Amino acid sequence: MSYLELAGLQKRYGASVAVDDVSLAVEKGEAVALLGPSGCGKTTTLRMLAGLVEPDRGAIRVDGIAMTNLPAHKRNMGYVFQSYALFPHLSVAGNVAFGLEERRRPKAEIARQVEDALALVRLAGLDQRRPRELSGGQQQRVALARALVIHPSVLLLDESLSNLDAKLRDAMRHEIRSIQRSLGITTLFVTHDQVEALTMCDRIAVMHRGRIAQIGTAEDIYERPATRFVAEFVGRANALPATRGPDGKVLLWNEPQPVAAPASGEFDVFVRPQRMRIVPLSEAVGSENVRVSGRILRSVFVGDHVEVLVEGAGGQLTVEMPSGSPALAEGAEVAVIWRAQDSLPFPREAP
Ligand SMILES: Nc1ncnc2c1ncn2[C@@H]1O[C@H](COP(=O)(O)OP(=O)(O)OP(=O)(O)O)[C@@H](O)[C@H]1O
Ligand SMILES: [Mg+2]
Repeated sequence: MSYLELAGLQKRYGASVAVDDVSLAVEKGEAVALLGPSGCGKTTTLRMLAGLVEPDRGAIRVDGIAMTNLPAHKRNMGYVFQSYALFPHLSVAGNVAFGLEERRRPKAEIARQVEDALALVRLAGLDQRRPRELSGGQQQRVALARALVIHPSVLLLDESLSNLDAKLRDAMRHEIRSIQRSLGITTLFVTHDQVEALTMCDRIAVMHRGRIAQIGTAEDIYERPATRFVAEFVGRANALPATRGPDGKVLLWNEPQPVAAPASGEFDVFVRPQRMRIVPLSEAVGSENVRVSGRILRSVFVGDHVEVLVEGAGGQLTVEMPSGSPALAEGAEVAVIWRAQDSLPFPREAP
């Protein structure tokens, strides 16, 4: 039995299904990211957990206890909303104290807990400010302190970094992750940002159309995407249209390749840009490699790597080379090679 369990959760709004069938098991102290595009059902899933939305079907258990019929304030979950949702008329301390006052804790205890929570998020000394007198990052910390002060059994964070600038977002990612780890708090973290999911969580659940398409470590999901959607959504990938030769061999850009094909139907072969290499046309290539040929359209230096766009018989592809690689002339005829095992075939019309 896992600490947090979601089993067959479903929520419909009229004819549309916001969450179709979500099952997920999270261990105590683990941080799991719900990663997916806009509208896939991430927030609805969190709101069902928190008791803010009633599921049509399914069960939620924390430490073996059924949550489904408990009202929100009895679930002991800390929720950080995307917009922070701070009370504008209350001070920082008043905002953080809110959940404890709701639970009718003694005044002295509340003061102590609020002080501890503000110290944890490094806001000591700002307790009498109003939310409008704080920066975006500081407001975010208040929202986090407000969620943590009740010592929640589960922490729910909904896109809570999306309003911050890139630098602050990065700093907050590390800070939240280190607080989450030091408190050992079981966390579900909603985001549509892959970097956030990768840096902040132990495992990632990729959501698509109200379902979990795949759950695993960042490496599982990136190296072994379970579906075409996951391969496209997480990281970058070239999709090369494949055809079948008369002998059943797979052809990419009209050349036969050592790539496995699905039993039937049209398909594309996905390859990560950094798994590809550009070599001279004349270079001999082992039989364990895929090789297509084309012409360099563009080569762009983007800081830590060089992106090279190559056009050939089957379209265009992008190769990511380490910066410092020998310069490549636009218009040059080259071969692009990669290991056969780095080719991921997916049916063309599949999810
Ligand atoms: N109260 C509601 N009434 C009707 N439809 C809703 C309601 N809440 C959500 N939906 C619909 O359910 C689907 C899932 O919404 P949800 O907010 O869970 O998506 P999300 O993954 O959080 O998206 P985003 O990344 O944009 O925040 C969407 O199509 C949305 O329009
Ligand atoms: Mg949302």
